[in-house]
Amino acid sequence: MRAEQGARGAPARPARKAERGVRVALIGWGTIGSGVIQLLRGNGEALAGRLGASVELARVVDIDLERRREVRVPKSLLTNDARAVLADPEIDVVIELMGGLEPARTFVLEAIRSGKSVVTANKALLAHHGREIFAAAEAAGVGFGFEASVGGGIPIIRTLREALGGDRHRAIFGIVNGTSNYILSAMAAEGRGFDDVLADAQRTGLAEANPTYDVDGIDAAHKLALLVQLAFGVHLPLDAIHTEGIRHVDAEDMAYARELGYAIKLLAIAKRHDEGIEARVHPTMIPLEDPLASVQGAFNAVCLLSEALGRSMYYGQGAGMMPTATAVVGDVLDCARDLRGRGGPRLPPLGFPVASLARARVRPIGDVVSEYYLRIQAADRPGVLGRISGLLGGAGISIASVVQRGRKSGGTVPVVFRTHETRERDLRRALARVEALPTVQGKPVAIRIEESPI
Ligand code: HSE
Repeated sequence: MRAEQGARGAPARPARKAERGVRVALIGWGTIGSGVIQLLRGNGEALAGRLGASVELARVVDIDLERRREVRVPKSLLTNDARAVLADPEIDVVIELMGGLEPARTFVLEAIRSGKSVVTANKALLAHHGREIFAAAEAAGVGFGFEASVGGGIPIIRTLREALGGDRHRAIFGIVNGTSNYILSAMAAEGRGFDDVLADAQRTGLAEANPTYDVDGIDAAHKLALLVQLAFGVHLPLDAIHTEGIRHVDAEDMAYARELGYAIKLLAIAKRHDEGIEARVHPTMIPLEDPLASVQGAFNAVCLLSEALGRSMYYGQGAGMMPTATAVVGDVLDCARDLRGRGGPRLPPLGFPVASLARARVRPIGDVVSEYYLRIQAADRPGVLGRISGLLGGAGISIASVVQRGRKSGGTVPVVFRTHETRERDLRRALARVEALPTVQGKPVAIRIEESPI
Protein backbone atom coordinates (compact mmCIF):
# COMPACT_ATOMS: atom_id res chain seq x y z
CA MET A 1 0.00 0.00 0.00
CA ARG A 2 1.03 3.55 -0.53
CA ALA A 3 2.40 5.39 2.44
CA GLU A 4 1.96 9.03 1.45
CA GLN A 5 -0.90 11.11 0.17
CA GLY A 6 -0.46 12.96 -3.12
CA ALA A 7 -2.36 15.93 -4.51
CA ARG A 8 -6.18 15.78 -4.12
CA GLY A 9 -5.79 13.26 -1.30
CA ALA A 10 -4.82 10.52 -3.74
CA PRO A 11 -2.16 8.08 -2.55
CA ALA A 12 1.32 8.91 -3.86
CA ARG A 13 2.90 6.43 -6.23
CA PRO A 14 5.91 4.38 -5.13
CA ALA A 15 9.17 5.93 -6.30
CA ARG A 16 10.44 2.57 -7.55
CA LYS A 17 8.07 2.76 -10.53
CA ALA A 18 10.04 5.73 -11.87
CA GLU A 19 13.15 3.59 -12.01
CA ARG A 20 12.09 0.86 -14.40
CA GLY A 21 9.88 0.40 -17.42
CA VAL A 22 6.13 0.44 -17.07
CA ARG A 23 4.69 -3.07 -16.91
CA VAL A 24 1.41 -3.77 -18.61
CA ALA A 25 -0.96 -6.75 -18.36
CA LEU A 26 -3.58 -7.44 -21.00
CA ILE A 27 -6.77 -9.21 -19.91
CA GLY A 28 -8.76 -10.48 -22.90
CA TRP A 29 -6.67 -11.50 -25.91
CA GLY A 30 -9.03 -11.06 -28.86
CA THR A 31 -8.61 -9.12 -32.07
CA ILE A 32 -8.11 -5.72 -30.41
CA GLY A 33 -5.73 -7.30 -27.91
CA SER A 34 -3.61 -8.62 -30.78
CA GLY A 35 -3.57 -5.10 -32.24
CA VAL A 36 -2.42 -3.70 -28.91
CA ILE A 37 0.39 -6.27 -28.71
CA GLN A 38 1.46 -5.41 -32.27
CA LEU A 39 1.51 -1.69 -31.51
CA LEU A 40 3.36 -2.05 -28.21
CA ARG A 41 5.99 -4.09 -30.07
CA GLY A 42 6.12 -2.22 -33.35
CA ASN A 43 6.12 1.24 -31.76
CA GLY A 44 8.05 0.18 -28.68
CA GLU A 45 11.03 2.41 -29.43
CA ALA A 46 8.91 5.44 -30.21
CA LEU A 47 6.87 4.88 -27.05
CA ALA A 48 10.04 4.55 -24.96
CA GLY A 49 11.37 7.73 -26.58
CA ARG A 50 8.24 9.65 -25.67
CA LEU A 51 8.11 8.23 -22.17
CA GLY A 52 11.78 8.00 -21.26
CA ALA A 53 11.23 4.37 -20.27
CA SER A 54 10.02 1.21 -21.93
CA VAL A 55 6.42 -0.03 -21.90
CA GLU A 56 6.71 -3.74 -21.31
CA LEU A 57 3.99 -6.28 -22.02
CA ALA A 58 4.36 -8.38 -18.87
CA ARG A 59 1.30 -10.67 -18.86
CA VAL A 60 -1.44 -11.73 -21.26
CA VAL A 61 -4.55 -13.26 -19.70
CA ASP A 62 -7.26 -15.19 -21.50
CA ILE A 63 -9.44 -18.20 -20.77
CA ASP A 64 -8.51 -19.64 -24.16
CA LEU A 65 -4.78 -19.59 -24.82
CA GLU A 66 -4.81 -22.23 -27.55
CA ARG A 67 -6.74 -20.37 -30.25
CA ARG A 68 -4.68 -19.14 -33.21
CA ARG A 69 -4.19 -15.39 -33.22
CA GLU A 70 -2.67 -12.69 -35.40
CA VAL A 71 0.37 -12.37 -33.11
CA ARG A 72 2.50 -14.78 -31.09
CA VAL A 73 3.24 -14.26 -27.42
CA PRO A 74 5.95 -16.11 -25.43
CA LYS A 75 4.41 -18.87 -23.30
CA SER A 76 6.02 -17.40 -20.19
CA LEU A 77 3.72 -14.35 -20.43
CA LEU A 78 0.51 -16.31 -20.89
CA THR A 79 -1.86 -17.22 -18.11
CA ASN A 80 -5.54 -17.76 -17.52
CA ASP A 81 -5.30 -16.67 -13.91
CA ALA A 82 -6.54 -13.08 -13.95
CA ARG A 83 -6.69 -12.88 -10.18
CA ALA A 84 -2.97 -13.64 -9.83
CA VAL A 85 -2.15 -10.89 -12.32
CA LEU A 86 -4.38 -8.40 -10.52
CA ALA A 87 -2.63 -9.24 -7.26
CA ASP A 88 0.87 -8.91 -8.77
CA PRO A 89 2.51 -5.73 -7.42
CA GLU A 90 4.86 -5.69 -10.41
CA ILE A 91 2.00 -4.88 -12.81
CA ASP A 92 1.42 -1.14 -13.24
CA VAL A 93 -1.28 -0.94 -15.90
CA VAL A 94 -4.12 -3.38 -16.63
CA ILE A 95 -5.73 -3.31 -20.07
CA GLU A 96 -9.24 -4.81 -19.91
CA LEU A 97 -10.37 -6.04 -23.32
CA MET A 98 -12.47 -9.00 -22.28
CA GLY A 99 -15.80 -7.19 -22.78
CA GLY A 100 -19.12 -7.89 -21.04
CA LEU A 101 -20.17 -6.84 -17.57
CA GLU A 102 -18.89 -9.61 -15.31
CA PRO A 103 -16.22 -10.56 -14.47
CA ALA A 104 -14.91 -7.43 -16.23
CA ARG A 105 -16.41 -5.14 -13.56
CA THR A 106 -14.88 -7.14 -10.71
CA PHE A 107 -11.47 -7.29 -12.40
CA VAL A 108 -11.42 -3.58 -13.18
CA LEU A 109 -12.41 -2.67 -9.61
CA GLU A 110 -9.80 -5.07 -8.21
CA ALA A 111 -7.11 -3.57 -10.41
CA ILE A 112 -8.06 -0.03 -9.34
CA ARG A 113 -8.21 -0.93 -5.67
CA SER A 114 -4.76 -2.48 -5.83
CA GLY A 115 -3.40 0.81 -7.19
CA LYS A 116 -3.05 -0.14 -10.85
CA SER A 117 -3.96 2.13 -13.72
CA VAL A 118 -6.67 0.71 -15.97
CA VAL A 119 -7.37 1.08 -19.67
CA THR A 120 -10.55 -0.33 -21.18
CA ALA A 121 -12.55 -0.34 -24.42
CA ASN A 122 -15.64 -1.71 -22.67
CA LYS A 123 -18.49 0.73 -23.33
CA ALA A 124 -21.17 -1.67 -22.04
CA LEU A 125 -19.34 -1.92 -18.73
CA LEU A 126 -18.98 1.86 -18.42
CA ALA A 127 -22.54 2.59 -19.54
CA HIS A 128 -23.83 0.26 -16.81
CA HIS A 129 -21.24 0.69 -14.04
CA GLY A 130 -19.31 3.83 -15.02
CA ARG A 131 -20.19 5.82 -11.92
CA GLU A 132 -18.94 3.12 -9.58
CA ILE A 133 -15.79 2.53 -11.62
CA PHE A 134 -14.93 6.21 -12.20
CA ALA A 135 -15.48 6.93 -8.49
CA ALA A 136 -13.21 4.02 -7.54
CA ALA A 137 -10.48 5.29 -9.91
CA GLU A 138 -10.77 8.81 -8.47
CA ALA A 139 -10.65 7.54 -4.89
CA ALA A 140 -7.61 5.36 -5.59
CA GLY A 141 -5.91 8.17 -7.52
CA VAL A 142 -5.07 5.84 -10.41
CA GLY A 143 -5.08 6.55 -14.12
CA PHE A 144 -8.16 5.37 -16.00
CA GLY A 145 -8.38 5.48 -19.80
CA PHE A 146 -11.43 4.62 -21.92
CA GLU A 147 -10.75 6.40 -25.21
CA ALA A 148 -11.33 3.17 -27.18
CA SER A 149 -14.85 2.77 -25.80
CA VAL A 150 -16.43 5.33 -28.16
CA GLY A 151 -15.57 5.87 -31.80
CA GLY A 152 -12.70 3.34 -31.98
CA GLY A 153 -9.65 5.36 -33.00
CA ILE A 154 -11.39 8.78 -32.97
CA PRO A 155 -10.16 10.72 -29.92
CA ILE A 156 -13.59 11.99 -28.89
CA ILE A 157 -13.30 11.27 -25.15
CA ARG A 158 -10.16 13.38 -24.79
CA THR A 159 -11.64 16.06 -27.00
CA LEU A 160 -14.65 16.43 -24.73
CA ARG A 161 -12.73 16.01 -21.49
CA GLU A 162 -9.74 18.18 -22.28
CA ALA A 163 -9.69 20.22 -25.49
CA LEU A 164 -13.30 21.39 -25.20
CA GLY A 165 -13.46 21.38 -21.41
CA GLY A 166 -13.91 25.18 -21.45
CA ASP A 167 -17.03 25.18 -23.61
CA ARG A 168 -20.67 24.25 -23.04
CA HIS A 169 -22.32 21.85 -25.44
CA ARG A 170 -25.91 22.00 -26.63
CA ALA A 171 -26.00 18.83 -28.69
CA ILE A 172 -23.92 15.78 -29.45
CA PHE A 173 -24.93 13.36 -32.14
CA GLY A 174 -23.48 11.09 -34.75
CA ILE A 175 -22.81 7.69 -36.20
CA VAL A 176 -21.21 5.61 -33.47
CA ASN A 177 -21.88 2.07 -34.62
CA GLY A 178 -19.79 0.95 -37.56
CA THR A 179 -21.64 -2.32 -38.20
CA SER A 180 -25.04 -0.70 -38.65
CA ASN A 181 -23.53 2.10 -40.72
CA TYR A 182 -21.88 -0.50 -42.94
CA ILE A 183 -25.22 -2.29 -43.41
CA LEU A 184 -27.18 0.90 -44.13
CA SER A 185 -24.46 2.10 -46.54
CA ALA A 186 -24.57 -1.19 -48.47
CA MET A 187 -28.40 -1.15 -48.53
CA ALA A 188 -28.35 2.40 -49.93
CA ALA A 189 -25.64 1.73 -52.51
CA GLU A 190 -26.89 -1.63 -53.73
CA GLY A 191 -30.65 -1.42 -53.17
CA ARG A 192 -30.54 -4.63 -51.14
CA GLY A 193 -32.61 -5.56 -48.09
CA PHE A 194 -31.43 -5.61 -44.48
CA ASP A 195 -31.42 -9.41 -44.03
CA ASP A 196 -29.47 -9.95 -47.22
CA VAL A 197 -26.74 -7.40 -46.37
CA LEU A 198 -26.53 -8.60 -42.75
CA ALA A 199 -26.07 -12.22 -43.85
CA ASP A 200 -23.22 -11.17 -46.18
CA ALA A 201 -21.62 -9.04 -43.47
CA GLN A 202 -21.74 -12.00 -41.09
CA ARG A 203 -20.15 -14.28 -43.70
CA THR A 204 -17.24 -11.87 -44.19
CA GLY A 205 -16.82 -11.21 -40.47
CA LEU A 206 -17.93 -7.57 -40.68
CA ALA A 207 -20.91 -8.31 -38.44
CA GLU A 208 -20.94 -10.56 -35.39
CA ALA A 209 -22.71 -13.93 -35.44
CA ASN A 210 -25.03 -12.38 -32.83
CA PRO A 211 -25.52 -8.88 -34.23
CA THR A 212 -28.08 -7.70 -31.66
CA TYR A 213 -25.95 -5.09 -29.87
CA ASP A 214 -24.96 -3.49 -33.15
CA VAL A 215 -28.15 -3.63 -35.23
CA ASP A 216 -30.63 -3.01 -32.40
CA GLY A 217 -28.98 0.24 -31.35
CA ILE A 218 -27.77 -1.04 -27.95
CA ASP A 219 -24.06 -0.45 -28.62
CA ALA A 220 -24.84 3.07 -29.86
CA ALA A 221 -26.92 3.73 -26.73
CA HIS A 222 -24.00 2.63 -24.51
CA LYS A 223 -21.73 5.06 -26.33
CA LEU A 224 -24.30 7.87 -26.16
CA ALA A 225 -24.61 7.40 -22.39
CA LEU A 226 -20.86 7.99 -22.07
CA LEU A 227 -20.83 10.95 -24.45
CA VAL A 228 -23.68 12.60 -22.52
CA GLN A 229 -21.75 12.34 -19.24
CA LEU A 230 -18.71 13.96 -20.79
CA ALA A 231 -20.57 16.59 -22.84
CA PHE A 232 -23.32 17.59 -20.42
CA GLY A 233 -21.87 16.52 -17.05
CA VAL A 234 -24.96 14.51 -16.10
CA HIS A 235 -25.60 10.84 -15.53
CA LEU A 236 -28.00 9.37 -18.05
CA PRO A 237 -29.38 5.94 -17.15
CA LEU A 238 -29.46 3.63 -20.17
CA ASP A 239 -33.20 3.14 -19.92
CA ALA A 240 -33.68 6.88 -20.44
CA ILE A 241 -32.30 6.56 -23.98
CA HIS A 242 -35.04 5.81 -26.49
CA THR A 243 -33.41 3.06 -28.57
CA GLU A 244 -34.48 1.71 -31.96
CA GLY A 245 -32.29 -0.32 -34.29
CA ILE A 246 -32.14 -0.74 -38.06
CA ARG A 247 -33.86 -4.10 -38.57
CA HIS A 248 -37.07 -2.47 -39.81
CA VAL A 249 -35.35 -0.17 -42.32
CA ASP A 250 -36.62 -1.25 -45.71
CA ALA A 251 -34.93 -1.00 -49.12
CA GLU A 252 -38.06 0.81 -50.32
CA ASP A 253 -37.61 3.54 -47.68
CA MET A 254 -33.96 3.87 -48.65
CA ALA A 255 -35.02 4.51 -52.24
CA TYR A 256 -37.71 7.05 -51.27
CA ALA A 257 -35.27 8.78 -48.92
CA ARG A 258 -32.75 9.26 -51.71
CA GLU A 259 -35.44 10.53 -54.04
CA LEU A 260 -36.46 13.09 -51.43
CA GLY A 261 -32.82 14.13 -50.95
CA TYR A 262 -32.04 12.21 -47.74
CA ALA A 263 -29.85 9.40 -46.45
CA ILE A 264 -30.98 7.06 -43.67
CA LYS A 265 -28.41 6.70 -40.90
CA LEU A 266 -28.53 5.19 -37.42
CA LEU A 267 -27.89 8.29 -35.32
CA ALA A 268 -27.26 8.63 -31.62
CA ILE A 269 -28.62 12.05 -30.67
CA ALA A 270 -28.53 13.98 -27.39
CA LYS A 271 -29.73 17.56 -27.02
CA ARG A 272 -29.71 19.76 -23.94
CA HIS A 273 -32.87 21.77 -23.35
CA ASP A 274 -33.72 24.03 -20.42
CA GLU A 275 -36.12 21.41 -19.07
CA GLY A 276 -33.91 18.39 -19.59
CA ILE A 277 -31.89 16.14 -21.87
CA GLU A 278 -33.32 14.47 -24.93
CA ALA A 279 -31.44 11.26 -25.81
CA ARG A 280 -32.32 8.79 -28.53
CA VAL A 281 -30.86 6.26 -30.96
CA HIS A 282 -32.83 5.50 -34.12
CA PRO A 283 -32.70 5.42 -37.90
CA THR A 284 -32.84 9.04 -39.03
CA MET A 285 -33.26 10.73 -42.39
CA ILE A 286 -30.65 13.44 -42.88
CA PRO A 287 -30.12 15.66 -45.93
CA LEU A 288 -27.70 14.15 -48.45
CA GLU A 289 -25.59 17.31 -48.23
CA ASP A 290 -25.09 16.95 -44.45
CA PRO A 291 -21.50 15.80 -43.81
CA LEU A 292 -22.86 12.88 -41.76
CA ALA A 293 -24.63 11.54 -44.86
CA SER A 294 -21.26 10.90 -46.50
CA VAL A 295 -19.99 8.77 -43.64
CA GLN A 296 -19.90 5.36 -45.31
CA GLY A 297 -19.11 1.79 -44.33
CA ALA A 298 -17.71 1.10 -40.88
CA PHE A 299 -16.62 4.71 -40.33
CA ASN A 300 -17.91 6.73 -37.37
CA ALA A 301 -18.46 10.46 -36.97
CA VAL A 302 -19.44 12.48 -33.94
CA CYS A 303 -20.77 16.04 -34.24
CA LEU A 304 -20.98 18.60 -31.49
CA LEU A 305 -22.80 21.86 -31.21
CA SER A 306 -20.98 23.94 -28.65
CA GLU A 307 -21.78 27.45 -27.47
CA ALA A 308 -18.36 28.97 -28.16
CA LEU A 309 -16.98 26.63 -30.83
CA GLY A 310 -20.16 26.15 -32.86
CA ARG A 311 -20.44 22.95 -34.87
CA SER A 312 -17.50 20.55 -35.01
CA MET A 313 -17.19 17.03 -36.35
CA TYR A 314 -14.83 14.16 -35.49
CA TYR A 315 -14.49 11.46 -38.10
CA GLY A 316 -12.53 8.26 -38.51
CA GLN A 317 -12.35 4.50 -38.14
CA GLY A 318 -14.87 3.65 -35.48
CA ALA A 319 -13.92 0.02 -34.98
CA GLY A 320 -11.41 -2.60 -36.03
CA MET A 321 -8.19 -4.01 -34.71
CA MET A 322 -5.59 -1.30 -35.29
CA PRO A 323 -7.77 1.84 -34.97
CA THR A 324 -9.12 0.64 -31.62
CA ALA A 325 -5.68 -0.55 -30.53
CA THR A 326 -4.33 2.97 -31.21
CA ALA A 327 -6.78 4.43 -28.71
CA VAL A 328 -5.88 1.76 -26.15
CA VAL A 329 -2.14 2.32 -26.52
CA GLY A 330 -2.63 6.11 -26.33
CA ASP A 331 -4.31 5.59 -22.97
CA VAL A 332 -1.54 3.23 -21.85
CA LEU A 333 0.98 5.92 -22.72
CA ASP A 334 -0.96 8.51 -20.70
CA CYS A 335 -1.11 6.19 -17.70
CA ALA A 336 2.57 5.41 -18.09
CA ARG A 337 3.49 9.12 -18.26
CA ASP A 338 1.45 9.65 -15.16
CA LEU A 339 3.18 6.80 -13.35
CA ARG A 340 6.53 8.26 -14.36
CA GLY A 341 5.46 11.61 -12.97
CA ARG A 342 5.57 13.30 -16.39
CA GLY A 343 1.91 13.64 -17.09
CA GLY A 344 1.18 16.78 -15.07
CA PRO A 345 -1.69 16.73 -12.59
CA ARG A 346 -3.87 13.66 -13.02
CA LEU A 347 -7.34 14.27 -14.39
CA PRO A 348 -10.23 12.25 -13.01
CA PRO A 349 -11.58 9.84 -15.67
CA LEU A 350 -14.38 12.18 -16.74
CA GLY A 351 -12.30 15.35 -16.38
CA PHE A 352 -14.35 16.38 -13.29
CA PRO A 353 -15.23 14.63 -10.03
CA VAL A 354 -17.80 11.92 -10.60
CA ALA A 355 -19.64 13.10 -7.46
CA SER A 356 -20.70 16.21 -9.36
CA LEU A 357 -22.63 14.11 -11.91
CA ALA A 358 -26.28 14.82 -11.24
CA ARG A 359 -28.89 12.46 -12.63
CA ALA A 360 -30.07 13.87 -15.95
CA ARG A 361 -33.52 15.36 -16.20
CA VAL A 362 -34.80 13.57 -19.26
CA ARG A 363 -37.33 14.83 -21.80
CA PRO A 364 -39.74 11.89 -22.36
CA ILE A 365 -39.67 10.54 -25.92
CA GLY A 366 -43.39 11.37 -26.27
CA ASP A 367 -42.50 15.07 -25.97
CA VAL A 368 -39.71 14.95 -28.54
CA VAL A 369 -40.51 17.03 -31.60
CA SER A 370 -39.35 16.03 -35.07
CA GLU A 371 -40.37 16.05 -38.69
CA TYR A 372 -41.34 12.64 -40.01
CA TYR A 373 -41.26 10.57 -43.16
CA LEU A 374 -44.28 8.25 -43.23
CA ARG A 375 -44.93 5.40 -45.64
CA ILE A 376 -48.40 3.95 -45.53
CA GLN A 377 -49.51 1.07 -47.74
CA ALA A 378 -53.07 2.00 -48.67
CA ALA A 379 -55.83 0.86 -51.00
CA ASP A 380 -55.80 2.71 -54.32
CA ARG A 381 -59.37 4.00 -54.08
CA PRO A 382 -60.94 7.45 -54.08
CA GLY A 383 -61.17 9.00 -50.63
CA VAL A 384 -58.46 6.84 -48.97
CA LEU A 385 -55.79 9.54 -49.05
CA GLY A 386 -58.30 12.07 -47.73
CA ARG A 387 -59.24 9.77 -44.84
CA ILE A 388 -55.58 9.25 -43.83
CA SER A 389 -54.81 12.98 -44.13
CA GLY A 390 -57.89 13.71 -42.05
CA LEU A 391 -56.70 11.43 -39.22
CA LEU A 392 -53.24 13.03 -39.29
CA GLY A 393 -54.70 16.55 -39.40
CA GLY A 394 -57.14 15.69 -36.60
CA ALA A 395 -54.18 14.79 -34.37
CA GLY A 396 -52.60 18.19 -35.08
CA ILE A 397 -50.08 16.80 -37.56
CA SER A 398 -49.35 19.17 -40.40
CA ILE A 399 -48.43 17.53 -43.73
CA ALA A 400 -45.59 19.11 -45.72
CA SER A 401 -45.87 16.90 -48.81
CA VAL A 402 -47.45 13.70 -50.14
CA VAL A 403 -46.18 11.40 -52.87
CA GLN A 404 -48.25 8.63 -54.35
CA ARG A 405 -47.01 7.06 -57.50
CA GLY A 406 -48.35 4.26 -59.65
CA ARG A 407 -51.83 2.84 -59.83
CA LYS A 408 -53.02 -0.49 -58.60
CA SER A 409 -56.73 -0.66 -59.03
CA GLY A 410 -58.13 -2.98 -56.41
CA GLY A 411 -54.66 -3.31 -54.82
CA THR A 412 -52.53 -1.18 -52.48
CA VAL A 413 -49.91 1.45 -53.20
CA PRO A 414 -47.34 3.16 -50.98
CA VAL A 415 -48.30 6.69 -49.95
CA VAL A 416 -45.38 8.73 -48.63
CA PHE A 417 -46.01 11.74 -46.39
CA ARG A 418 -43.59 14.24 -45.02
CA THR A 419 -44.80 16.01 -41.91
CA HIS A 420 -43.90 19.34 -40.39
CA GLU A 421 -42.60 19.28 -36.81
CA THR A 422 -44.73 16.90 -34.79
CA ARG A 423 -44.77 15.70 -31.21
CA GLU A 424 -43.94 11.99 -31.06
CA ARG A 425 -46.93 11.29 -28.80
CA ASP A 426 -49.38 12.86 -31.31
CA LEU A 427 -47.81 10.98 -34.19
CA ARG A 428 -48.05 7.58 -32.46
CA ARG A 429 -51.69 8.19 -31.58
CA ALA A 430 -52.54 9.19 -35.16
CA LEU A 431 -50.63 6.26 -36.67
CA ALA A 432 -52.51 3.77 -34.47
CA ARG A 433 -55.76 5.16 -35.94
CA VAL A 434 -54.39 5.06 -39.48
CA GLU A 435 -53.24 1.46 -39.02
CA ALA A 436 -56.74 0.45 -37.90
CA LEU A 437 -58.31 1.67 -41.17
CA PRO A 438 -59.57 -1.25 -43.29
CA THR A 439 -58.04 0.46 -46.34
CA VAL A 440 -54.53 0.41 -44.83
CA GLN A 441 -52.33 -2.64 -45.08
CA GLY A 442 -49.64 -3.47 -42.51
CA LYS A 443 -47.92 -1.13 -40.11
CA PRO A 444 -47.15 2.44 -41.22
CA VAL A 445 -43.42 3.18 -41.41
CA ALA A 446 -42.29 6.32 -39.54
CA ILE A 447 -38.72 7.63 -39.75
CA ARG A 448 -37.66 10.84 -38.01
CA ILE A 449 -36.14 13.53 -40.21
CA GLU A 450 -33.47 15.82 -38.80
CA GLU A 451 -32.91 18.64 -41.27
CA SER A 452 -29.88 19.54 -39.30
CA PRO A 453 -29.56 17.40 -36.18
CA ILE A 454 -28.60 20.60 -34.35
N1 HSE B 1 -19.33 -3.15 -32.65
C1 HSE B 1 -18.93 -1.79 -32.74
C2 HSE B 1 -19.36 -1.20 -34.06
C3 HSE B 1 -17.45 -1.60 -32.65
O1 HSE B 1 -19.85 -1.92 -34.94
O2 HSE B 1 -19.22 0.00 -34.19
C4 HSE B 1 -16.93 -1.47 -31.28
O3 HSE B 1 -17.40 -0.32 -30.66
